[in-house]
Amino acid sequence: MSSTLPYDIQSIRSEFPILERKVKGKTLVYFDNAATSQKPKQVIDAIAHYYSYYNANIHRGLHTLADEATADFEASRAVVQSFIQAKHHEEIIFTKGTTESINLVANSWGNAFLNEGDEIIISSLEHHANIVPWQMIAEKKGASIKVIPIDGNGKLDMNAFEKMLSKKTKFVSIVHASNALGVINPVEEIIALAHQQGALVMVDGAQSSVHLDIDVQKMDCDFFAFSGHKIYGPTGIGILYGKKHLLESMPPYQGGGEMIKEVTFEKTTYNELPFKFEAGTPNIADAIVLKSAIEFINRVGKSNIRKHEDLLLEHATSKLKDIPGLHIIGDIQPKVSVISFTIDGVHPQDLAILLDNQGIAVRTGHHCAQPLMQCLGIVGTTRASFAAYNTIEEVDIFIEALNKAIKMLK
Ligand code: ALA
Repeated sequence: MSSTLPYDIQSIRSEFPILERKVKGKTLVYFDNAATSQKPKQVIDAIAHYYSYYNANIHRGLHTLADEATADFEASRAVVQSFIQAKHHEEIIFTKGTTESINLVANSWGNAFLNEGDEIIISSLEHHANIVPWQMIAEKKGASIKVIPIDGNGKLDMNAFEKMLSKKTKFVSIVHASNALGVINPVEEIIALAHQQGALVMVDGAQSSVHLDIDVQKMDCDFFAFSGHKIYGPTGIGILYGKKHLLESMPPYQGGGEMIKEVTFEKTTYNELPFKFEAGTPNIADAIVLKSAIEFINRVGKSNIRKHEDLLLEHATSKLKDIPGLHIIGDIQPKVSVISFTIDGVHPQDLAILLDNQGIAVRTGHHCAQPLMQCLGIVGTTRASFAAYNTIEEVDIFIEALNKAIKMLK
């Protein structure tokens, strides 16, 4: 099997110190990558390097450290710009993560442009982060939310979506790849249909950005959000992409330093993009380090990682299908390397504890997608999600541990 792998997996693994860890006396098998990925040494070292050599506030100081930190912060913005193929560097806004990016758009755009009777469309597959901010702004502005239905495998009902669209539709916010099931939505088709009605579209790329090539210009989304910690980077840093003319038309999300041009007690004028949306001292270290995470991905090659993860997905799917009473939810293509399943008579939380006892980390529960679980008529699933450093051998260890756990629980 290893001869078909697109890169030297042992060499990649050696870049991730945490993979040496023992959990409950066993070598860690980390299959909770959809929650957060582990970090390569170049990312860990870049954090220490920043704080050891050039920690300073940015865009303010006239000293060497401030100049170096500012240059690297802006260099990271340029790397992110090319990572998602944005046209302009000022279309890249640093945020805390996907959640803050969605809240920024819901609040800034929603407060300025939503009116009573307007409609926002989301889908049944959304993470809470792409539901709650829209509910909050809809309630405030007297708008309503419509939800695209799915079938039992998480496939969107595109006919229902087309029927839902009307001149009342002002905004569509849709997940690119479901965190709970891994299924990939036809975002380009959704964007084209929404644009025909004059609606804007935001794509939640929290799960897709690490697996799929992202080209926001080709996709033609109006906004795109993702988080650093799911792409081998640090927590607390994320990105909002927005088309320049839209970001320019939107009011600031937060007030404070950095986002202003001039302040008097009577009136404030706002800074230009992207600073208008970056109030206060940003998360400088993690923004800078995001560049190292993207450099890691670019060095290994996203398409190589995808090929590798597809092999893991295929192998795990076929092994899981041999287990009696196990149901994979979302067993459709295209999907990213996430497998969610239920087992008759087994509670996911009991399973997680028994797997942890064998050194295996998976996520169980509703995956911050309670409405999706309700649509599927289940309380939760067990989810295994793979990254560049996982191996076929680890999948086999997982399957063996799973069979052992099921025997104990049934
Ligand atoms: N959204 C993250 C997950 O899917 C936390 O696990």
